[in-house]
Amino acid sequence: MDIKACIFDLDGVIVDTAKYHYLAWKELARGLGFDFTEKDNEQLKGVSRMRSLDILLEIGNKKTDEEMKLKYAESKNNKYLEYILKMTPDEILPGVISFLDEIRALHIQTALGSASKNAGTILNRVKLNKYFDVVVDGTKVNKAKPDPEVFIKAAVELNLLPEQCLVFEDAQAGIEAAINGGFKSIGVGSENILQNADLVIPGFEGITWKDVYEKLRITE
Ligand code: G6P
Ligand code: MG
Repeated sequence: MDIKACIFDLDGVIVDTAKYHYLAWKELARGLGFDFTEKDNEQLKGVSRMRSLDILLEIGNKKTDEEMKLKYAESKNNKYLEYILKMTPDEILPGVISFLDEIRALHIQTALGSASKNAGTILNRVKLNKYFDVVVDGTKVNKAKPDPEVFIKAAVELNLLPEQCLVFEDAQAGIEAAINGGFKSIGVGSENILQNADLVIPGFEGITWKDVYEKLRITE
C-alpha cells in the first residue's frame, strides 16, 4: 500500500529537545542525591512525564508517595519550560524543513505524534505549526508509547489506515508503538538503539523522500 502521510515524533526528531528533557531530569536526580546518565535517559525517550518519573525514581532507588511525585514532575517540567521558552527556529534539526517542504509538495500529508504536553508550546516557539495537517500530542492521549494510541489517533484524524502512514521516531518506545499499531517506521538516530525500525537514518540532513521511499521498498 502506498504511503499517504508521515507522522513525526517531536522531541529528538523535529527539534533537539531530547537534550532539554535529559538536563531537566538530571537536575531533578541530582537534587534527590543520585546521578542520572545519558544511557539511563534512553529509557525515558518517548515515555510520558509520569512514567518517566517512575523510571527515574527506580534508577535512583527512591520510593515516594503520589503527592511528592506530582511535585517532582512539576519541578522537572518547570526546569524544562525554562529551556523551551527560549527556543528559536534555529533549533529545528538540520534538513527537517526541506524534508517537510518536499513531502508536502508531493501531497503527502503530515502529522505530529508526540507524547509531550508541551508540543504546542514548542511548535509555536519554532514556528512550525503550519507544516502539520494534524497535531496529536500528550494533551490528547491517555496511553504512553509503546502503546500505539498517539499514532492511531493521528491516522484517524488524517482519515488513513496505519499502513498508509510512515512514523519517524528517535525513541525505542516510539518504534515499538509504531510496530504495535501496524505502521512502518523510520528510526531517526542510532542503528544500535533503533534496530527494530524498518529503516534507520542518522537525521534528515541530505535525506530526500526518494531516499527513504526506495530504501523502504527494498526491505519489503
Ligand atoms: C516526549 C519525550 C519524553 C517526554 C514526553 C512527555 O515523548 O520524548 O522524553 O517525557 O514527551 O513530555 P512532557 O513535555 O509532556 O513532559
Ligand atoms: Mg522523541
